[in-house]
Amino acid sequence: MKVVLVCLVGVFATLVAFTSGELAQICLPPVPFCLLENNCVCTSKKSPIPTEETPQLISLTFSESVTDDLYTNLWAPLLLGRTNPDGAPISATFFVPHEYTDYRRVHDLYANGFEIGVNSITSNYSELYWATASVDTLVQEFDGQRTIISHFATIPGEDIVGVRTPQLQLQGDVSIDAFVAAGFEYDSSWSSTSLDPYFPYTLDYLSHQECRLGTTCPIQSHPGFWVAPIIDRRRYTDRSWVDCNNLSTCYVNGTSDEIAEWLLRGIEQERSGNRAPITLIVPSDWFRMIYNSYLGFAKFLDTVGTMDDVFLVNLKQVVDWAKNPVPLSEFKTAVTTPETECHRNTCKLRTAAGEVRYLTLCVRDGGGYCPDVYPWLGNPLGEIQKEA
Ligand SMILES: *[C@@H]1O[C@H](CO)[C@@H](O)[C@H](O)[C@H]1NC(C)=O
Ligand SMILES: *[C@@H]1O[C@H](CO)[C@@H](O)[C@H](O)[C@H]1NC(C)=O
Ligand SMILES: *[C@@H]1O[C@H](CO)[C@@H](O)[C@H](O)[C@H]1NC(C)=O
Repeated sequence: MKVVLVCLVGVFATLVAFTSGELAQICLPPVPFCLLENNCVCTSKKSPIPTEETPQLISLTFSESVTDDLYTNLWAPLLLGRTNPDGAPISATFFVPHEYTDYRRVHDLYANGFEIGVNSITSNYSELYWATASVDTLVQEFDGQRTIISHFATIPGEDIVGVRTPQLQLQGDVSIDAFVAAGFEYDSSWSSTSLDPYFPYTLDYLSHQECRLGTTCPIQSHPGFWVAPIIDRRRYTDRSWVDCNNLSTCYVNGTSDEIAEWLLRGIEQERSGNRAPITLIVPSDWFRMIYNSYLGFAKFLDTVGTMDDVFLVNLKQVVDWAKNPVPLSEFKTAVTTPETECHRNTCKLRTAAGEVRYLTLCVRDGGGYCPDVYPWLGNPLGEIQKEA
């Protein structure tokens, strides 16, 4: 009886998988139908152009609330004024969650050439929530946050194309279906071991990236949707190498020189290897918890700034390079953002439960009025909800 049941469940699961989306085929080379000009790239550790002509791209990424304090005391001093080998200012990606975010500062980041991506409205701490959310809920979480950012930070919605889930919790095809439905272009939630440095790829075919314990990975085909993998860093501990994908959880400490040295050695691994783009997750609590980390990180950025083949870019630039892989000599990193001035306005609002929240937004072009209620899931513009 049990066996029959298991079989039935298996058949049912297969049917569900087939009816709700097409299962992705294995991408075996040569695959003549997966071509870059059709916005299709298979998972690969090989650069699309000769390795020695491949620029080494590094993306610093941030996935926490953009507060006035972090902007003023951490990100601006750390990042502004640095340039790439082509003379253009460096960039980075901020995946912005809603709570505690100061949207005037989000606008300032954007105006300084940084990419703004999405990290959900609720940032719900419950793993179960993200593991069981419906496509509809996920669309509300991610598309809703794009609406909030676009409206309250006055950033064109079409410039917000990337998403990273809270705590990198992907729910396989359900998450990707939601991202596609919401019109996003790439996801950066999928980490890869330090020994598997993959280039960005699309989900037309089955990904070769390892599906790590505790995560659910997409198995259906999502044509033209990009994955920007997060390649783990490594640290040496107790005579063995340990992977980590978040500078906070790498627990590397020491003098600022030692911290800079560790980061540089990690970069060398790809730079002298296949030159896959590197994504660093840089949480502010790393700077609070690990003594010397700020100075060490600044020294690391200083040294990187002297290398004429290494570029600090945002993840959209990485995906754009993957779509049009030009050699080092032709690679340009300038980001054009319209010159826009923005004044702050802080609104005292109430949540649906009646709690008080302050929302700081950008006032420009006659916009910047306070919403009626605190923007939230299902009501990203904070409008008064009409009685049913
Ligand atoms: C998080 O999700 C749970 C359901 O899993 C829900 O009860 C809770 O209210 C959510 N919290 C937030 C902050 O949205
Ligand atoms: C990085 O680690 C910190 C804890 O130190 C955590 O708060 C943060 O959410 C992590 N970031 C990501 C993207 O996983
Ligand atoms: C720094 O490293 C030492 C030795 O590896 C360790 O004992 C200590 O706990 C570390 N400190 C922090 C803050 O991680």
